[in-house]
Amino acid sequence: MKTILKIDNLTKVFGGLEAVKDVNIQVQEREIHALIGPNGAGKTTTLSMINGTLTPTTGKIVFRGKDITGCPPHRAAAEGLGRTFQNIKQFGSLTVLENLMVGGMYHHNKGGVLHMLLHRKETRELERQVREKAEEIACKIGVRNLCGEYAGNLPYGRQKVLELGRAMMGDPRLILLDEPAAGLNPSERAEFVEILNKIYEEGIDLFLIEHNMDVVMNISHKITVLNFGRKIAEGTPRKVANNAAVIKAYLGDRYGKNDQGGEPNAGG
Ligand SMILES: Nc1ncnc2c1ncn2[C@@H]1O[C@H](COP(=O)(O)OP(=O)(O)OP(=O)(O)O)[C@@H](O)[C@H]1O
Ligand SMILES: [Mg+2]
Repeated sequence: MKTILKIDNLTKVFGGLEAVKDVNIQVQEREIHALIGPNGAGKTTTLSMINGTLTPTTGKIVFRGKDITGCPPHRAAAEGLGRTFQNIKQFGSLTVLENLMVGGMYHHNKGGVLHMLLHRKETRELERQVREKAEEIACKIGVRNLCGEYAGNLPYGRQKVLELGRAMMGDPRLILLDEPAAGLNPSERAEFVEILNKIYEEGIDLFLIEHNMDVVMNISHKITVLNFGRKIAEGTPRKVANNAAVIKAYLGDRYGKNDQGGEPNAGG
């Protein structure tokens, strides 16, 4: 198995708080890898360091053999790293298709806005290609019939799906997802899992933070558990669900015994 993402001794200190401390994670190619843990465990901070939204205090991040530690998000994206956010970040007053296209123009326009203005013909051609791609992705994520709707008018579940579509516009090899199923109802959640599986089948690897244990246990090949910024366990879903430290810190004795599954010990 080949490693697509390797994180070595990653640490982030905010003032006096060690939000992430000496974390090592390896994501393999063709893997769906989940990152779980209680609120404030350092999950989002870890993801933000990987895609360059935050600079690590210390540690190293290697993606597809390249050291990307401290690279800004657009550089990480150009290397094939996509990301979705815990809070929806799309443009409510743009349509679904336009939201997808903004992501695409951003990724494929190498010369900047001035270049686009000076090279109208080239820009029109780029726009045509990006539109085509946006339509293709809209189909894949099941929003083809909503392309003309304002994103702000979509039900919450569709907005989460659109967020995923935007991440796909950059032709990522690996997508980082921050709580993709948060706030979804059971049927929206099932649909989202189906879309994730489809994307995975198409060759994109996934690294996701998720509190819903039904989703995590169903979809993941491997799980890493953080608590107070440190890695406390790692392994297959079965192994992690039976790990005493994980049960104590996060899962409680609910998961596995209680067939409702759901979200342990987590408000957010
Ligand atoms: N920009 C920041 N400045 C200061 N402290 C921060 C900052 N971002 C996060 N923290 C703190 O770092 C710790 C880890 O936060 P993080 O958001 O990574 O947790 P999380 O595991 O994603 O939690 P949740 O499940 O609630 O999303 C928390 O104590 C948080 O308050
Ligand atoms: Mg978080």
